[in-house]
Amino acid sequence: MYSSKVIGLGKYVPERVVTNEELTHYMDTSDEWIRERTGIHERHWVEEGDGNNTASMAAKASRIALERAGLTPKDIDFIVFATLSPDYYFPGSGVLLQDMLGCDTIGALDVRNQCSGFVYATAVADQFIRSGMYKNILVVGSEVQSTGLDLSTRGRGVSVIFGDGAGAMVLTRDEDTSRGYLAHSLHSEGKYALELAVQTPSNRVPTSKLLKRVAENPDDTSFYPYMNGNFVFKHAVVRFQEAIMEVLNKAGLTPQDVDLVIPHQANLRISQFVQKMLKLRDDQMFNNIQKYGNTTAASIPIALTEAWEEGRIKDGDYVIQVAFGSGFTWGANLIKW
Ligand SMILES: CC(C)(COP(=O)(O)OP(=O)(O)OC[C@H]1O[C@@H](n2cnc3c(N)ncnc32)[C@H](O)[C@@H]1OP(=O)(O)O)[C@@H](O)C(=O)NCCC(=O)NCCS
Repeated sequence: MYSSKVIGLGKYVPERVVTNEELTHYMDTSDEWIRERTGIHERHWVEEGDGNNTASMAAKASRIALERAGLTPKDIDFIVFATLSPDYYFPGSGVLLQDMLGCDTIGALDVRNQCSGFVYATAVADQFIRSGMYKNILVVGSEVQSTGLDLSTRGRGVSVIFGDGAGAMVLTRDEDTSRGYLAHSLHSEGKYALELAVQTPSNRVPTSKLLKRVAENPDDTSFYPYMNGNFVFKHAVVRFQEAIMEVLNKAGLTPQDVDLVIPHQANLRISQFVQKMLKLRDDQMFNNIQKYGNTTAASIPIALTEAWEEGRIKDGDYVIQVAFGSGFTWGANLIKW
């Protein structure tokens, strides 16, 4: 058995910064409401013609991670790509990344677990490395959400939250099994699938019917993300805690032993609630939602990269990645750095 060591991290966000104030031009909202309810000050959104899409942003983040790892795309044995906003309905974005980076004809797997995507992707990659099947794996989370949002007042409960961006992590095989990813927890509860979902396009509706529906009703909202905000919030605060405790219990640790929690940046109030319930100090919790909004599957690798760049993660630290989101899905990964 081997363990997986993180040897490179990178992030990329589009240049365009969208402040809360800018959103007031499109919908009835305010900087005060958004900051108070979500903690978000601004987010980055792609703009037409800037060349950014889900795969290309992933490539930019990956090149940084690879350079920091001292590897080239030819050294990568496998790609795990987490996204809820793939470039195409099919094929997945992983194969586009394989081509953009110029990797060999390696396997590329797309993970469709929304906000929990990077937690699932990390767990999957770790298993391939532990078993000895692959040596170097690129794990990526990338999202373009802005192009799919309802920017009218009708969509304000959802649209103010989400941002675009990408984060990447290079994992490599290590002989020291006392380090690396020590435990994972992965869960789902599909009965709540439609509490946070985009329902259309869907193969449940023939395309011909769908086109007719849109032509007859241009206000069809099923193309936009729907979120039962309060319901999601209540489940998130419980599941975040459970997932953290599950990986800690597996490793025989307590919340006091944790050096840094990298929560999926869903909402600052969710992170603060979880911090309070687990009695974690401010320095044990990493938040950057203020600058990026909720970038779903990209939020953990972006936050992990930023925490590492700021020197918040040192050798031997216990770090937890934890997420909750659409599905519902949730989970956590515990790593000894
Ligand atoms: C979305 C969320 C911020 C909304 O906050 P909330 O306190 O639950 O607010 P509500 O949805 O109850 O709406 C309260 C009021 O604010 C209004 N409102 C909603 N969005 C608004 C906006 N962007 N600006 C101004 N007012 C807004 C609502 O219309 C409602 O008005 P009403 O009372 O007149 O009907 C909150 O539910 C949340 O954070 N949920 C979890 C979301 C999340 O983390 N999702 C990602 C999971 S991975």
